[in-house]
Amino acid sequence: MSNKTITIAIDGYSSSGKSSMAKALAKKIGYRYIDSGAMYRAVTLYAMRNNMISPDHIVDCDALVASLPHIKIDFKVCEDGQHTILNGEDVESLIRQLDVSNNVSQVAVIPEIRHALVAMQQSFGIEKGIVMDGRDIGTTVFPNAELKIFVNASAETRAMRRHKELIEKGQQSTYEEVLANVVTRDHIDETRKESPLRKADDAILLDNSNMSIAEQDTWLINEYNKAIANNK
Ligand code: CDP
Repeated sequence: MSNKTITIAIDGYSSSGKSSMAKALAKKIGYRYIDSGAMYRAVTLYAMRNNMISPDHIVDCDALVASLPHIKIDFKVCEDGQHTILNGEDVESLIRQLDVSNNVSQVAVIPEIRHALVAMQQSFGIEKGIVMDGRDIGTTVFPNAELKIFVNASAETRAMRRHKELIEKGQQSTYEEVLANVVTRDHIDETRKESPLRKADDAILLDNSNMSIAEQDTWLINEYNKAIANNK
C-alpha cells in the first residue's frame, strides 16, 4: 500500500456539516485543513465594512474587485481551532454571523473574486496533504483530487443544526431566519454561472440527515482508507 499523501475535496450544501467532518478528518490524519467558505466570508465582511453592499444585498462589484489587492486572508491555528485573519485582524467569529451569511453568496457569484480565491486555494494545496471544504473544490479547485465527497441533508435539518450552533455561540437568530438563509444561499450557489455548486461526477454522495457526528466521522475515515488503498 502507498503512503503517498492525497488531496481531499469535501463539497456540499450550506450547513451540511461538511466543515466539521473535514476538520475532524484533517486532524486525525495530520493533513492541513482549509475552509474555503471562510475566505468568501472574509471578503464579504471587507465589502460590508467598506459600504460596498447595500441593505438589499446589491454588491458594488467594480469597487470590490478593485479592492482585491488590499484584501489579505490568512489562517491561524488557535487552541479552539483555525481562525480566519483578514488584513491582520482575527475575524473568525464576525464572519460566522448571520449578516455575513446573508450577503456572502452574492459576493461569491462575482467571477473575479472567485478567480482570485480559487488561485489562493490551489496554492494552499500544491503539496497535497490537504482537506478543503466548499462548493466547487471537487469541480474547479482540485478537479484531480483523489477523494471527493459531496454532502447533503434536508434544508430543515441543516437549518436546525446551524440555528443551534448560532444560539450556542450567543448569536441571536430565529430558526425561520436561518432556514430562509440556507434556502436562499442554496439557490444562489446552485444557479450561478461561475463554478456553481454541483456534485463532481466522481464524488461520493453522503446524505447525513440521519447520521450522528461520530457516525459521519467514521464513514469519512473509511472512505479515506479506501482512497489511500486505491492510490498505489
Ligand atoms: O458553513 P456554510 O455551509 O454556511 O457556508 P460556507 O462554507 O462558510 O460558505 C459560505 C458561502 O460562500 C456559500 O454559501 C457560497 O456562496 C460561498 N462559497 C463558494 O461559493 N465557494 C466555496 N468554495 C465556498 C463557499
